[in-house]
Amino acid sequence: MSINNYKQFFTKEHLMGPNSLKLLDELLVNALEAVAGYTMDLGCGTGITSLFLARETKAEKVFAVDLWVSAADNWRRAQAWNAQDKLIPIHADANDMPFAEGFFQSIVGVDTYHYFGGKPGFFAEKILPLLAPGGTVLLAMPGVKEEGAQYSPLMREWAGEEVEMFHSLPWWKETIGGNVEGISVRGYESARYSEAWQDWFASGHEYGLRDKAFMDRGLWDTLNFVMLEIHKEG
Ligand SMILES: C[S@@+](CC[C@H](N)C(=O)[O-])C[C@H]1O[C@@H](n2cnc3c(N)ncnc32)[C@H](O)[C@@H]1O
Repeated sequence: MSINNYKQFFTKEHLMGPNSLKLLDELLVNALEAVAGYTMDLGCGTGITSLFLARETKAEKVFAVDLWVSAADNWRRAQAWNAQDKLIPIHADANDMPFAEGFFQSIVGVDTYHYFGGKPGFFAEKILPLLAPGGTVLLAMPGVKEEGAQYSPLMREWAGEEVEMFHSLPWWKETIGGNVEGISVRGYESARYSEAWQDWFASGHEYGLRDKAFMDRGLWDTLNFVMLEIHKEG
């Protein structure tokens, strides 16, 4: 697997934030074998991570689920990439997904889970039931190095009410795994935090240029990327 084969996707037409392919590549370093069978790319955006999962892992089918991006657009891209045998785009809300219990061997979400997953009980009620016994969930999301830092004036100026979505690694581990039987949660901070953001700025996306201005004013020291690997007992 070489991330260099995917450089054509490091563009403002494909990226929706910090380089999702590099973050996914990092998630897979220790979990490549765990991604297999029916796999969901939750909050897949333009589907570039779905393509990476389809091509670079043992996933049999990749269900590319997103709310803001239409299934029609992602199906067009799947066809253009010649990946229509493996990618199944679905328009759905993470709060109400149309899948059978135990359907997925793996569920992956890059730069998306913080939008909906921070509610108490969300993981146990909405995600865990869809996972087969022995299955794995891999998540990467922007967070804060220290809980509480999300409420700084600079964070509020940058993210407004969305500061509520940012949390520290210990907070996420506790919120997802705290009172849940039958799972193990491993977490770490991304080593590619800075690189992933630099690629986003370099894409020239107008949101990326705004983000860069805030990062340079001081957010580099506040933010991180929270990486989580959750296993369901077999
Ligand atoms: C910043 S984009 C990241 C997209 C992609 N994962 C990536 O990294 O390029 C966040 C994505 O989360 C998705 N999202 C937000 N809320 C969602 C929800 N309730 N259900 C499903 N997807 C959601 C959006 O549709 C959007 O595509």
